[in-house]
Amino acid sequence: MRRLFATARQITAALAIGFIQTERKDHYSLKHSYTLGIKVFAPASIGNIGVGFDIMGLALERPGDEVIARKSNTPGLRITKITGHSGKLPYEVEKNTAGVAAQRFLEYIGETEKGIELEIHKKMPLGSGLGSSAASAVGAVLAVSELLRTGLSKRDLLPFACQGEQLASGSFHADNVAPSLLGGIILIRDNPTLDVHRLHVPRGMYVVVVYPQIQVLTRDARALLRPEVPMADYVRQSANLSGFIVGLFNGDIGLIGRSLRDDIIEPQRAGLITGFYDVKEAALAEGVLGCSISGSGPSVFAICPNSLVAENAGQAMQRAFARHRVESQVYLSAVNQEGAQVQ
Ligand code: HSE
Repeated sequence: MRRLFATARQITAALAIGFIQTERKDHYSLKHSYTLGIKVFAPASIGNIGVGFDIMGLALERPGDEVIARKSNTPGLRITKITGHSGKLPYEVEKNTAGVAAQRFLEYIGETEKGIELEIHKKMPLGSGLGSSAASAVGAVLAVSELLRTGLSKRDLLPFACQGEQLASGSFHADNVAPSLLGGIILIRDNPTLDVHRLHVPRGMYVVVVYPQIQVLTRDARALLRPEVPMADYVRQSANLSGFIVGLFNGDIGLIGRSLRDDIIEPQRAGLITGFYDVKEAALAEGVLGCSISGSGPSVFAICPNSLVAENAGQAMQRAFARHRVESQVYLSAVNQEGAQVQ
């Protein structure tokens, strides 16, 4: 019996040693991976969601950008590689949204002398209305923060990603950056102070986005907007925005459907997107809850009660663009609740 007890003790001791060794090995490999670099996936997003110009956005599961941050012996931040951009994006840190976002962050934490290399892998179209510049800015800030193990939260990183995005859009607004970083559907009560709030997403809700081969630059799409809003439009739009949010929280599909309409921005920008109203009509005929311009366009999104409606609507929207001789690409996605992630 005593021998058996001794054996049990030996086994326990052996297991404990094994456990400690395993822990040491894990700890070592974790440290090692930090030394090599950090890769972050930052998702595409739909800014405005039709009814919330500049103050609401949602994150998609796909597509998205990848940003890799590595330590280097050369002091300062450098962009060493950009792929998937057809030569359109600059390597100069101060001219690149990801570079600016990471640089402002390094200044904030007092680490501008650290040698850091950034690689940006664009895995979504530029100038598409899918928050491409926001995703790169988000990816860069999160990758640098993780590489330097700052321990800061995603919320802490938000202002720096917005400063990167500002370079591309000419305005400080978080309707793409906040959902790409934090995930979910985000309401921004106040852009300057980044008073951001996560909204409820009803179960099963699905999104389709169709990206037509048309180029619309956010700066241009903003420049054409009239600075004043008629009182009657303001009243209707604020009622619809409120209705949309209540519909999300209550899972009230009917209310979401009635509320998801933009009477202010969409009519002013629709002309930038060949065939927009036919595409919208095709989506609505498939039973989507609402359809409008994704961010500043040219992509067109529809919020759907389930994935089947989204699939059918995507095909119908693509066919409608084709009737106008416009090629397009369809993305189907649930709402991404995680936002940007280290991979
Ligand atoms: N809210 C922005 C716009 C989206 O519609 O101009 C692009 O960031």
